[in-house]
Amino acid sequence: PTLEKELLPLYFGWFLAKRDEDFLRKTSHDFLEQLGNLKAFKKRLPAFGYEDKQKLDLLKHFAKSPNILHCTAKFCDYGKVLGSEEYAQQEAVKKAYSRGYTLHISALFATPRTVGAQVDLTADQLLVWPLDAEKEVMPRDNLPRGSRAHITLGTAAEVQDVQTGIDLLEFVKLQQSRSDGENLGELTGLVAGKVSYCDNGMWMLNLSRKIEVKSIYSGYYG
Ligand code: A2P
Repeated sequence: PTLEKELLPLYFGWFLAKRDEDFLRKTSHDFLEQLGNLKAFKKRLPAFGYEDKQKLDLLKHFAKSPNILHCTAKFCDYGKVLGSEEYAQQEAVKKAYSRGYTLHISALFATPRTVGAQVDLTADQLLVWPLDAEKEVMPRDNLPRGSRAHITLGTAAEVQDVQTGIDLLEFVKLQQSRSDGENLGELTGLVAGKVSYCDNGMWMLNLSRKIEVKSIYSGYYG
C-alpha cells in the first residue's frame, strides 16, 4: 500500500506544560497590572495610543490571548510557507519532535500592539530554529539567531499574534543601536526586575531571575 504524504502542521513549536502555562498567564497579569500602575507608564500614555490621564486597563487593552501558550519555531501554514517541507525533514527536527525542553524567559515586554515573553534559546533549541527567522522580518539587519524567539501572551483587539515577534525584534534592534533604553523603575514579586522604556510605547521588563517553563516540542495542526 502507498503511504499518504506526511502532513505539515500550522506551525512547529514548544508547547508549555499546563501548570507552567497557568503560572505564566498569572505572571503576565501581574506584569501588566504593575506596569499599568507605574508612574512612568502613566506619564507616557499618549505613546500607547491613549490620552493623558485617561484610564487604561492593560488587561483589557490586550483583549486576545492564545489558547495554548507556546514558542513558535517554524510557521508552516500546513505547507504553504516556502521551506516548510525542508524544515520538517531535517534530522534535528525529527529528533526533537515530542521531546521535553525547558524554556528560559529573560524578559517580558509590552507595546501598544502586543505583550510577550522573550525566550533565550539554548544551543540545543537553536538546532531547530529556522536560519531565516530574523532575516524574514528585518532583512537588512544582522540580528543574533534566536532573537525573535518569544511566547505571545496577548495582543490588542485588531492585532495578529505574529506581531509579537516583530515587536521583540524591534526591541533587540533598538537595544543594539543605543544602549538599553531608559531605566524607569522596578517591579517586585513574581515579576521582579528593572523596567526600561524604548520610546514609541515600548516597555521591557528585564527579569532579575529568569523564569523557566517546561515545554514539549511538537506540531500544531489546529
Ligand atoms: P506567534 O508565534 O507570535 O505567537 P495564527 O493563529 O495567526 O495562524 O498563528 C499561529 C501561530 O503561528 C502563532 O503563534 C503566530 O505567532 C505564529 N505565526 C503566524 N504567522 C507567522 C509568520 N508569518 N511567521 C512566524 N510565525 C507566525
